[in-house]
Amino acid sequence: MRRKVTIVGAGMTGSSTAAWLAAREICDVVMIDILPGVPQGKALDLQEAMPVIEKDVTIVGSNSYEETAGSDIIVITAGVARKPGMTREDLMTTNANIVRMAAEETLKRSPNAVYIVLTNPLDTMAYLVQKVTKLPSHRVVGQAGILDAARMRTFVSLELGVSVENVQCYVLGGHGDEMVPLTRHSNVAGIPLRDILPPDRLSAIVERTRKGGAEVINFLGTSAYYAPAASVVQMVDAILKNKHLIVPASAYVQGEYGLHDMYFGVLTQLGRDGVEKIIPYDLNAEEKVMLNKSAEAVRQSMETLHKLVKLD
Ligand code: 2OP
Repeated sequence: MRRKVTIVGAGMTGSSTAAWLAAREICDVVMIDILPGVPQGKALDLQEAMPVIEKDVTIVGSNSYEETAGSDIIVITAGVARKPGMTREDLMTTNANIVRMAAEETLKRSPNAVYIVLTNPLDTMAYLVQKVTKLPSHRVVGQAGILDAARMRTFVSLELGVSVENVQCYVLGGHGDEMVPLTRHSNVAGIPLRDILPPDRLSAIVERTRKGGAEVINFLGTSAYYAPAASVVQMVDAILKNKHLIVPASAYVQGEYGLHDMYFGVLTQLGRDGVEKIIPYDLNAEEKVMLNKSAEAVRQSMETLHKLVKLD
C-alpha cells in the first residue's frame, strides 16, 4: 500500500510541497483547503503532470477532511502569511484558530499520523498542535531548522563559490529573528566557517540568515514557499523511510538546554515515529546566551497563545 500524506492548506507552500512530494514518488498526496475549487484544481493540474514526469502518484484536492482519512503524515501549512513589515507573531490570533481546527479534524481521521507543522508563529503553533491532539510529543514536530540552515548554507555557498553540498550549517532556537546560527559547528567540507570566512562576512551571513524570511517577503509581498516546502519534503522523506536523519527541527523540549514544556529548534533525529531523539550540542557561554534570548522570545509568544486559547 502506498503511503498517504495530507497537506492542510493548498496555498503556495502547500501546493509546492505537494509537487515536490509527487516528484519523489514516495506517497499519495491529499491537499485540503477551505477555498472552493483551489485544492481540487491544483491537485488535478499536478495529477496531469505525472505522466510527463513518469510518477505513479495519486493527488487529491478537497474542501472536506473526509479525504484525509488514514494519512501517515499530516503537514499543516494553513494560515495567513506575513506581509512586509509584519513579524511571525502578528499572525497568532488568526492562525491559532485555523491550526487548532486543522489538528482536531485531521486527528479524528488519522489517529496514527505524525504531524509536521509549518504555520507561523512556528514553535508556538507546533506546541498548540501537540496540546490539541494530546499526541505523544515525538509525533508532533515543527519545520523550521532545515529551512533556516538551508538559507545559511545558500549564503555560504554563494560567498565562497563552492557547492551547496559541501556546506553544512546548523541553526537552533525559535523560528524568529533571535534564531541561533551555530557558526562554530557549521563547516565547509569539515573546515569550520570561522576558519574560512573573515569575521565581518560571517556576521553578515548570520544576520542575513536570521532575516531570511523577511528578505523574501520584501521582494514578494508574501512569505517564501519553495524553500519551506523543500524543507518539509525532506522531513516527510525521513519519516516515511525511517531514515534516522539528523536535522534541526522544532521539537518538544523536556530539559534540553534547561528548557521545559515548549517547542524549540533543536537538533533532532527523525524516523518512523517522528522525533526519535534530541541530540544536544555542547554550547559555549556565548551560544547559551543567544539560545536563552531566543527561548525567551518563544515563551512570550506562548504567553500570547495562552491568553487566546484555553489549553489543558
Ligand atoms: C519563512 O521563514 C515562511 O517562516 C517561513 O520563510
